[in-house]
Amino acid sequence: MRQLLSIVLALSPALAHNGAELFEKNCAGCHKPGSPSRAPLPESLRKLSRQAIAASLLTGKMLLQAASLSVEEREAIADYLAVNQSDQASGGRCASAMEPLKNLDGWQGWSIDVTNRRFQPAAGAGLDAAGVKSLKLQWAFGYPAAITAYGQPSLAGGAVFVGSDSGTVYALDARTGCTWWTFHAGATVRTAISLGPYGKDRHAAYFGDGHSTVYAVDAQSGALLWKKRVEEHALTGITGTPKLYQGRLYVPVSAGVEEFAATNPKYACCTARGSVVALDAETGRQIWKTYTISDPPGPTRMSKEGVQLMGPSGVSVWSSPTIDTRRKVLYVGTGNDHSEPETRYSDGVIALDLETGSMLWVKQLSADDRWNVACVNPDSANCPSKPGGDHDVGSSPILIESKGGKRILLVGQKSGVMSALDPDAKGNILWQTRVGKGGVLGGILWGSAADDQNVYVPLSDWDMMNPAAGGGMFALRAATGEKIWYTPPSKPACAGQSGCTPTQMAPATVIPGVVFSGGMDGHLRAYSTSDGAVIWDYDTVRDFETVNGVKARGGSLGSTGAIVSGGMLLVNSGYAQIGGMPGNVLLAFGAH
Ligand code: HEC
Repeated sequence: MRQLLSIVLALSPALAHNGAELFEKNCAGCHKPGSPSRAPLPESLRKLSRQAIAASLLTGKMLLQAASLSVEEREAIADYLAVNQSDQASGGRCASAMEPLKNLDGWQGWSIDVTNRRFQPAAGAGLDAAGVKSLKLQWAFGYPAAITAYGQPSLAGGAVFVGSDSGTVYALDARTGCTWWTFHAGATVRTAISLGPYGKDRHAAYFGDGHSTVYAVDAQSGALLWKKRVEEHALTGITGTPKLYQGRLYVPVSAGVEEFAATNPKYACCTARGSVVALDAETGRQIWKTYTISDPPGPTRMSKEGVQLMGPSGVSVWSSPTIDTRRKVLYVGTGNDHSEPETRYSDGVIALDLETGSMLWVKQLSADDRWNVACVNPDSANCPSKPGGDHDVGSSPILIESKGGKRILLVGQKSGVMSALDPDAKGNILWQTRVGKGGVLGGILWGSAADDQNVYVPLSDWDMMNPAAGGGMFALRAATGEKIWYTPPSKPACAGQSGCTPTQMAPATVIPGVVFSGGMDGHLRAYSTSDGAVIWDYDTVRDFETVNGVKARGGSLGSTGAIVSGGMLLVNSGYAQIGGMPGNVLLAFGAH
């Protein structure tokens, strides 16, 4: 009998990982009444969604406290804390059905076009510098049980489409914020929603989730059209927005969760690889898939903990691909290697043939960047020897054409350097300008924006040891890299609060005359594109009354940016990842 029980225990992951016991052993010491750490009590943790708890343990504030646990054990604790908890229903349903979506004009996807400029022309913006100065909050929407407001919103045909931490995707009425439909994906949806025509007279909304599954849902009703898992490795996910172009969906895959899992010295680091997958947008059928590292991982050396290490690995594609319609080429920025041996594909740009996915050229910008989160962990058993600086290209390459017809690919990097590559000469470097000192979450993080003259570059330069460091906004002449203006960060109003820093990680957004940038201090600022003067500044760090009745608060502005369309500006606030200020609110501003 006893023998049978032990076999059952060994076979059943649910029983083998007892969440309650794991919580008692690893967490309850702090998370109990009267603890000097002032950690939230278990009943407060139980109000968070399962995804929010898992994210805190895998990539967020509790990463170090959970580092000795395997990914499965962390998930088991999240299951235990979230047991009996259904995704809290939110109110605010619209009284009527969604009006028929006539067109998809607006801002949808990561950028309004395949070049990733994040530029909205005057006609689409419906907003100029004078209008920006009179922007007022129109409505706020709260994400239930969330500590991070993920997913850049899309606005098209009068509807707002947005994903969330809990995996719920919402379609809201842009005028009032009431909810037309919701769709529940299997995991966090942090990509923006791409929209396109579907069949004869329908529209589809496309997005990816944290477990590498891509979805197409009917944009009118939220009904599932198809879904497809594009990568089997458990520690991969989709962070960059899938790009829709001529009936195909180009999906970037990140191996980023493995960088965090490597903090556990028992983890056989590392085996996950980044990739790009092309799907038929009508059916979800895979057309091609190209790994960023051509060779699959194999055994390398033994760690000092006696664990067999693996490689090559890593080279995530964190951001939305860029499409060169003239050359029929797709460009992606790549992340660091997770383990030894280093590859020639990391920290650079890979050009793929749009038709076949074959690799046309690779331009590496930083060599030998073997790195994972174990390198900044007390137990660094899984940190590669001679680790690099974690200098990912985490943002989308921006394709522009300068006045003389010269084409340029602008590539921001966590090293703090903006590079201009020649897409017509295998990525040869045209110029490089350093804007910051770079580092882990330093330099240029989630994206810059470009108009016809300049590229606008928000600087992170986050420093784990110094919460006062980082931030600032640059304008560089796109043709030459010359610095046009620089606006230093202001001292954060939230200084002293855990997670408050002046760093600017979020992607910038530009309309004629005005560029927007969000800070980890929770402010969204609008800068004049001519001289960098701040012409509007909104502090999102406060409680909001929401249209759906969910208690909501703003926090850091982290991995997603503002969008502008038809006189409205929308932004998500709250980013508990990597220790930022939590929050769970979508804010909609208008100029009337
Ligand atoms: C050394 C003390 C300590 C230990 C051990 C600890 N925590 Fe925490 N935890 C805290 C503190 C303090 C906060 C509040 C942090 C803040 O708000 O900045 C917190 C916050 C959290 C949150 C809120 C979400 C977030 O990311 O802010 C979750 C969820 C959580 N802990 C889960 C856990 C779990 C599960 C474990 C066990 C694996 C654990 N914690 C172990 C001190 C601890």
